[in-house]
Amino acid sequence: MASRIYIAVSSFARQAPEPLNILKQSGLRVDINTTGRRLTKEEVTGNAKGYHGIIAGLEPYDAQVLEALPDLKCISRCGVGVDNIDLGAADKKGIKIFTTPDVVVQPVVELTLAMILNLLRKITQQDRSMRGHQWQRMIGSQLAGKTVGIIGLGRIGRKVAETLLLLGARVVGYDVHPDRIWAEGCGVSLVDFDEVLSRCDILTLHLAAKAGDHFVLSSRHFQAMKEGALLINVARGAFVDEKALLEALQQGHLSGAGLDVFQQEPYAGPLSGCPQVVLTPHVGSFTQESRVAMEMEAAQNIIGFFNR
Ligand code: DGY
Repeated sequence: MASRIYIAVSSFARQAPEPLNILKQSGLRVDINTTGRRLTKEEVTGNAKGYHGIIAGLEPYDAQVLEALPDLKCISRCGVGVDNIDLGAADKKGIKIFTTPDVVVQPVVELTLAMILNLLRKITQQDRSMRGHQWQRMIGSQLAGKTVGIIGLGRIGRKVAETLLLLGARVVGYDVHPDRIWAEGCGVSLVDFDEVLSRCDILTLHLAAKAGDHFVLSSRHFQAMKEGALLINVARGAFVDEKALLEALQQGHLSGAGLDVFQQEPYAGPLSGCPQVVLTPHVGSFTQESRVAMEMEAAQNIIGFFNR
């Protein structure tokens, strides 16, 4: 009997039909989330019952959900973060996890750059002001010569660093297991976490999203940053204490933030009322090019698993 695959990703095959076609042609029986939005825990449990494989987005797969899906053998993440999956519980149940780590790098790097340049040149603020029929020229500042601090120097953090260096920024970085040869080769100064905070004009987070991580930027970290510094978070909302960030912005200690991820998504909290914040709805890897590539890879991973 053919294995049954549930595609939980709401936007799957919207950009191109190939990812769905290869799944169907491989002989797997495929059903898809048609709600057009991220599924809740209850919906995952209800909809995916009886399925052997799931192509997963960011909906939750905690121990309770996995327990309620006894036939599940494989979760193929369309994306890189696995903070929505209880990896320990999956391992105990023998559920194989796949991710698509390489294709997300370029779009996330580009969004990081876009956030930084937008904040430095106040693009969104001036756009808003012009829509209000005002001709108000806001002085910006340049990236070249600024010090950017990067927390997390994995695939994405390293590419962000290399791109910033090409544009004339200085980069200081921190990682628990840094690649010293890479850093030396491209001119990134590896320093400890506190030194990144105290030296950078712009701080950007690129830590891996794994369930159980406890890194949180809180008010003491914001106070340790330079007055007027910027924060970029396109990694995970859980890495930032949003209340403390709002305070740091309102006090003028930080001059702006670029946020693509939030503690609670969809986000509609008070940071959206802050003019010096640029917000996007978790679209780091959401480009035409990377969506198709991610979906193809997620589909191939699950086909490879079931057609071994
Ligand atoms: C990722 O790859 O984890 C992104 O957040 C989108 O899923």
